[in-house]
Amino acid sequence: MGDSYKLVDHVYDVVVVGAGGAGLRATLGLAEAGLSTANITKVYPTRSHTVAAQGGISASLGNMGEDDWRWHMYDTVKGGDYLGDQDAVEYMTREAVPAVIELEHFGVPFSRTEEGKIYQRPFGGMTTHFGEGTAHRTCAAADRTGHAMLHSLYQQSLKHKAEFYYECFALDLLMEDGVCRGVIAWDLATGTLHRFVAQQTILATGGYGRTYFSCTSAHTCTGDGNGMVLRAGLPLQDMEFVQFHPTGIYGAGCLITEGVRGEGGYLTNSQGERFMERYAPHAKDLASRDVVSRAMTIEIREGRGVGPEKDHILLNLQHLGPDVIHERLPGIAETARIFAGVDVLKEPIPVLPTAHYNMGGIPTNHHGEALTLKDGNPDQVIPGLMAIGETACVSVHGANRLGSNSLLDLVVFGRAAAHRCAETVKAGNTVRSIPKEASDKVIARFDKIRHADGSEPTAEIRLRMQKVMQSDAAVFRTGKTLDEGSRRLKEVFDSFEHVRVSDRSLIWNSDLAETLELANLLACATVTMAGALNRAESRGAHAREDYPERDDKDWMKHTLAWMDEQAKVRIDYRPVHSYTLSDDIKPFAPKKRVY
Ligand code: FUM
Repeated sequence: MGDSYKLVDHVYDVVVVGAGGAGLRATLGLAEAGLSTANITKVYPTRSHTVAAQGGISASLGNMGEDDWRWHMYDTVKGGDYLGDQDAVEYMTREAVPAVIELEHFGVPFSRTEEGKIYQRPFGGMTTHFGEGTAHRTCAAADRTGHAMLHSLYQQSLKHKAEFYYECFALDLLMEDGVCRGVIAWDLATGTLHRFVAQQTILATGGYGRTYFSCTSAHTCTGDGNGMVLRAGLPLQDMEFVQFHPTGIYGAGCLITEGVRGEGGYLTNSQGERFMERYAPHAKDLASRDVVSRAMTIEIREGRGVGPEKDHILLNLQHLGPDVIHERLPGIAETARIFAGVDVLKEPIPVLPTAHYNMGGIPTNHHGEALTLKDGNPDQVIPGLMAIGETACVSVHGANRLGSNSLLDLVVFGRAAAHRCAETVKAGNTVRSIPKEASDKVIARFDKIRHADGSEPTAEIRLRMQKVMQSDAAVFRTGKTLDEGSRRLKEVFDSFEHVRVSDRSLIWNSDLAETLELANLLACATVTMAGALNRAESRGAHAREDYPERDDKDWMKHTLAWMDEQAKVRIDYRPVHSYTLSDDIKPFAPKKRVY
């Protein structure tokens, strides 16, 4: 069976899987360092989901008022409800300034102040003086920042002669005695299978938003790297923390940037009340996302939602006027017109909290090296494997990410991973031979799914999974909903045994591609639900109504979750790094959150 597939072999120093912001930043750094680098990407690079990032990238440049990277670090630690690893948060916030200046030099067309400096807008949870004032910290290219960054990073990668394998779907890691030796990928256009052997494999495959029915993520955000890691018998970290963005368009899910509220937009309920003043008297509409999403959900639950079903909230920006909207928010004006039929100069946008970001992922250190728990060492590096971007859990975002820290995470840790490889990888030293069994196992699984001849179409199984996640692993959770959700999700998981792939071809077989993606989504959903049921406290985006308090005594720790082929999840823990990298900054002790 496996022998009927011909494998095309490739040998590189480093292989990067994914060409979003993180994958491209790593790729260009690796190529610049003189390492032979292959980038394998499921979609053409400029179609990666980073293209959808709107509001901006955080960095304490201080172009529009005072700022300091220490304030940024404090906000990030506090915003993440103290679950973030403070060494990594220090690294990210310190490196933010050079990373953004570097982007400017790469050609990113940032919006400008009157003096020609990079324009910066306020975003939720970003403060000055450790929570006292409002920071203007989010560097923006109008409301198309991710789009602008992605194009510049791709151009830079080409300039440095990085090699791309476009529209190539990574199937599984090649593991040998606990060492990652590369990856096998399926070329969607030619139908051929490719074996990439490398000294380091860097996963940059993005999040798994598509486990939910309503999400801001692209259809391609299917947790492919996370699925590969679970199948390799390795753990994922903190998967229970799923961020709901307060302002997804009602009914469509499309993102309306937090930059709208940064520019002065505000939320109202059916009584026309600016209700955020009650929930967060200080930060109001610019409280962090977990806080705003919970407040909106409570308003709807208590009957103050808008519309015939009283099931959404309004986002007002009419008062900003045409100049601000055309100059700083042109993209959302278009999105609101197309997906909500709304002219933002005249009417508010109907919005609803929508699944947006996965704080959890592949555990890594701040160099991007993947970690596992081994022989009592919670920070054991997995040789040959790295992860960056949303697929990784560094963990800088802890239990809740601040808006505009995601684009930052991509470039800072993409760059860090390239630097690490420049230190650890020896150009031209990749060992070519790889045991046949490692490849056979990957191909046998691919072949089995390709010929799946059951009764259940992929789309039906996917829809059932998305509905379970939407209702049972939502903004608010209880032991009861999560228990019920685990049971229902297991039924969905088991139904994958009966999946039907109708198209048996190998060329542009979207039926097969979506089925492989569904397998990855089901794995991500399962560990997310299990982690949420297990964590008996409320922290950041994980709001348990039956355990409403944060419990630092028992739960100041990262969840590690492994999953077997029967969807049985095993859970263990890693300590949170409550230390910093340098003597000039002390770690922040957990405080009760005040809004
Ligand atoms: O609201 C936004 O523009 C999203 C930004 C982010 O998630 O960082």
